Amino acid sequence: MAESAHSQTADAHAAGGTRRDFLVITGNALLGIGAVAAAWPLISSMNPARDVLAAGAPIDVDLSSLQPGQQILVLWRSRPIFIVHRTPAELKKLQDPQDISLLRDPDSNVLQQPPYVKNWHRSIKPEYLVLVGICTHLGCIPEFMPQPGGSLGPAWLGGYFCPCHGSRYDLSGRVFSGVPAPYNLPVPPHHFVSGTTVRIGENPTTSPFDFDSIEQI
Ligand code: FES
Repeated sequence: MAESAHSQTADAHAAGGTRRDFLVITGNALLGIGAVAAAWPLISSMNPARDVLAAGAPIDVDLSSLQPGQQILVLWRSRPIFIVHRTPAELKKLQDPQDISLLRDPDSNVLQQPPYVKNWHRSIKPEYLVLVGICTHLGCIPEFMPQPGGSLGPAWLGGYFCPCHGSRYDLSGRVFSGVPAPYNLPVPPHHFVSGTTVRIGENPTTSPFDFDSIEQI
């Protein structure tokens, strides 16, 4: 049975001159990422126990207040999970042939995701992206930098940037060629239990998938 995640707000800060919303939802703020700033409604009054979360119990996350262009971060199995509400413009850009030609594994052929999200948007619903937020190089947490250009220069297309050694991913978590990270960001098991509530850590009933079979978590 899934636990409901309790929310804590975290920082909303500037990057490249544009505001980024970065929100942490966790029972116990296990990673302590960011400082409290942005307004975010409580998702639930429940506060799952640390050991329950660490054991990998599924968590339900209400996305009804997540606006297009925003990302939230939840913890599952003590790992950061990114959930992004992508805009129509961002979804269109993910299909740009020029951008796709720059990716190492644009079709997600390496087993870095469950089979039910092996598609161009790497998700169940195109607008909602769910990723394990751990760089496949050496395990840093990439930064959400959805705006093209900015501090990363005109060649930056928007996506995730890992400042540790410069790895870059698009807004589907697909890694670009020529960076240290070898694989796309992993996608955890998940499915929607309502129109805007996603359950992290559990597959759709029709799709068995072992998260531990992913090539590199
Ligand atoms: S850990 Fe991300 S680039 Fe090295």
